Amino acid sequence: MTTRARKQIILAAYVGGVNEHTLWEHPDAGSQIDFSTFRHVAQTAERGRFDYFFLAEGLALRARAGRIFDHDIAGRPDTLAVLASLAAVTDHLGLVGTLNATFNEPYELARQIASLDHLSGGRAGWNVVTSFDAFTGANFRRGGFLPHSERYVRAEETVAAVRRLWDSWAEEAIVADKAAGVFRADADAGAFAQSTTQFDIAGRFTVPRSPQGRPVIVQAGVSPQGRDFAAATADAIFSPYSSLPEGKAFSADIRERAARFGRGPDEIKILPAAGFVIGDSAKDAEEKARHILEQQLTDKTIQVTFEQVWNRDLSAYDLDGPVPDVDPDPEAPSIIQGRAFVFQDRFETVRTWRELADERGLTFRGLAREISRGPGYVGTAAEIADQLDTFVQEDGGDGVVLGSHLVPSGLDEFVDQVVPLLQERGSLRSEYEGTTLRENLGLPLPARSAELLSAATETGR
Ligand SMILES: Cc1cc2nc3c(=O)[nH]c(=O)nc-3n(C[C@H](O)[C@H](O)[C@H](O)COP(=O)(O)O)c2cc1C
Repeated sequence: MTTRARKQIILAAYVGGVNEHTLWEHPDAGSQIDFSTFRHVAQTAERGRFDYFFLAEGLALRARAGRIFDHDIAGRPDTLAVLASLAAVTDHLGLVGTLNATFNEPYELARQIASLDHLSGGRAGWNVVTSFDAFTGANFRRGGFLPHSERYVRAEETVAAVRRLWDSWAEEAIVADKAAGVFRADADAGAFAQSTTQFDIAGRFTVPRSPQGRPVIVQAGVSPQGRDFAAATADAIFSPYSSLPEGKAFSADIRERAARFGRGPDEIKILPAAGFVIGDSAKDAEEKARHILEQQLTDKTIQVTFEQVWNRDLSAYDLDGPVPDVDPDPEAPSIIQGRAFVFQDRFETVRTWRELADERGLTFRGLAREISRGPGYVGTAAEIADQLDTFVQEDGGDGVVLGSHLVPSGLDEFVDQVVPLLQERGSLRSEYEGTTLRENLGLPLPARSAELLSAATETGR
């Protein structure tokens, strides 16, 4: 009988910035924009031997019927500036930022991420997103938006162009005789050209080859097109499916799609977002989790969550009354702008919610509690270590992207209490083994750099 080797859990630490899960009013909460917040989370994650620090991106302030959300008044600093500053106060931790493929140009994306990769010694990653709504587009030269399918065409062409740019310095990174301080630029240094539906670009790229072959590509977006895009291109996926059954179904679907693109099951790492509440006993943890959820689900948050799906003003409906009997209005201009939207079909979502409320006799508020995904991992440190390990060993995913309701100090509890238990089980490294993010994630070197590296070894360079 063959026993399968224990999978190593991949851990990422997430700072969501403006959102309704973080209790920013909590007396121990830090600032949404101060460097100290990001530094604390990143250094804690590195102490716990996490693979990477992760930032989402919001390119516009969120609004309801034109009025800015209260939490967004604190703003959201630029992802690359935060990650570059974190490179200086960490040594091993990967630094992965969300950057939009719809509004940014390949040349600037390639240059910024490759620069972060050099500054951090091979620790950079890019989470490719396509954006939620047209509202964001008004901030950019492109303006407006692209239809859903075209957004993915643009994303594919953007990633292809970025990779071409990253590969354009292939020879130099290896051939350059650094000891002698000589860099021999050949005639092709940095040369690139790409002519596709979205781009017609040609020139020379300014940044040498990445210390990790190519920076790591992450993807977030769960439609069939989003899944195909990830299966064909991504090294990792940020998914919303944190329960074991949902995670297993998603992972199986992605691995099957990846195989159609000629990719092996280990070439894509899947990491759902998850929270955690640690208690002294299971009961203590559940009570804490209930108390946290009460603070997260304010009347405003509930209203905004439902209005986003109905796309209607629901302020006239009593949250302690029944679920409104009106239908969603997908044709109206968006009442909620700039907020993550992960529901595929508004009518179907509302229908399922109504059924759930009828079946369980729920008020509108009760429904909000019921459908809230909650923190994911709730229990004693030992129970959480067990649940998380089971999730990974049973292929719900390859790890998790952990966010805490308390920023920046919430992650400390996880690192102090759960991490040692995972290390004891042999499911989490005690020391970093690789120097780059790609190595630590156990990802293969991209084909082109693998070829070049072996060529360099053969010739003794
Ligand atoms: C888990 C998850 C996280 C996401 N994070 C961001 C983000 O930080 N910024 C952003 O602009 N879009 C984000 N998106 C939106 C995606 O880029 C995408 O635009 C959206 O999900 C629609 O694509 P889809 O229909 O394939 O899901 C996220 C999506 C998912 C599923």
